[in-house]
Amino acid sequence: MTTRKITNSSQGIHGTISVPGDKSISHRALMFGAIAHGETVIHGFLKSEDCINTMKCLQQLHVKIEEKDDVVIVYGKGFEGLEKPERTLYVGNSGTTIRLLLGILGTLPFETVITGDDSIKKRPMDRVVKPLSKTGALFSANKAPIVVSGTNTKGITYDSPIASAQVKSSILLAALNSVGTTNVSEPKPSRDHTERMLSHFNVSYQKKENMISLIGKQKLTGREINVPGDISSAAFFIAAAIITPNSSLEIHNVGLNETRTGIIDILLKMGANITISNHSKMNGEEVGTIHAEYSPNLNSVEICGETIPRLIDEIPILALVATQANGMTVIKDASELKVKETNRITAVADELTKCGAKIEPTNDGMTIVGKSTLQHANVTSHGDHRIGMMLAIAGLIADGGMTIEDAEAVSVSYPHFFEELNNIMA
Ligand code: S3P
Repeated sequence: MTTRKITNSSQGIHGTISVPGDKSISHRALMFGAIAHGETVIHGFLKSEDCINTMKCLQQLHVKIEEKDDVVIVYGKGFEGLEKPERTLYVGNSGTTIRLLLGILGTLPFETVITGDDSIKKRPMDRVVKPLSKTGALFSANKAPIVVSGTNTKGITYDSPIASAQVKSSILLAALNSVGTTNVSEPKPSRDHTERMLSHFNVSYQKKENMISLIGKQKLTGREINVPGDISSAAFFIAAAIITPNSSLEIHNVGLNETRTGIIDILLKMGANITISNHSKMNGEEVGTIHAEYSPNLNSVEICGETIPRLIDEIPILALVATQANGMTVIKDASELKVKETNRITAVADELTKCGAKIEPTNDGMTIVGKSTLQHANVTSHGDHRIGMMLAIAGLIADGGMTIEDAEAVSVSYPHFFEELNNIMA
């Protein structure tokens, strides 16, 4: 386990950076490339542990994937080109890999065993196993390791009780190789990268309110995909600039899909100095440049309801920002945080409390009272990349900095996070 010491940054952070490719889109680009026919060329692919695990799983299913210079090329042969792997598929820490792959594997006429690390083995898979079983897919268990197979799967109608892009996407991927129509709905809109990628691959489907309908067995042809920078990675540096005195930071090429920009809406509501420019579109995904500056007069805010799925991965870093805002910030309707890479409600509350924050966990979120002066503490990432990065940013403003155990967890989504942090502190 690596321990990292972060020093307090009285000079602020400065510069112009770009963040690595979007994790959600990188996973989907590989999977869509694998089930399409022909070459899919991916620019800006995120070479992080999670996405590399997706790549390795697909290679074990006998999909040829090459890395050349800055591109990744997937030579897809359709669903019928996927062949039984010789060994157990290992997804590491990646919930997106296992849940989306279960959708694909549940339509294939051979048994695959799929598993992951200790965190994955504890996370709920019944949320995909239950609907996918209705298609005719067979599963040995509700938690990893799982043996999965399926023949002649059929379209289903499923009203998901949770707003989860992983559940929706798993069902849609299964739908592509099943006979008949699949209808899937969710209680609140979750990120829609799968739908946008379906359109990019010329798959026809209908979307009415929160219900998507797709007819199976449509043929996909390989495409070129440009992956924008990940707003969930940018969020750490945006927050860093906002809470660290004397800071000014520009981040280029950030994905601004409105199902992901809840973080920007909330920070603006809190009074943060953020501007967005250079709007454009990349394969159906909005992108732009984000400029963030130190914002000394932040106010507390309530974060709940439909906003939650739009910023679910940014709640750890928003909790840190809330420690620097005047008044009580309330985060609710976010019980999904309990089943992420770690229980992010207790992990955020425990670690920020060690630093002197006034933060209380609740059943479906937390309350944070600001403004607090944070102090050095020996903290841990809990093996969770986003907790690790949030604590590193806390170190920029904590008296005496921060010492973070299990810091290498950041590699799951942002392998060069600490190097980039050093660059902007210099
Ligand atoms: C993801 C969806 C979200 C998110 C995760 C990535 C995706 O999970 O938290 O980091 O790529 O579909 P849920 O869909 O389970 O909320």
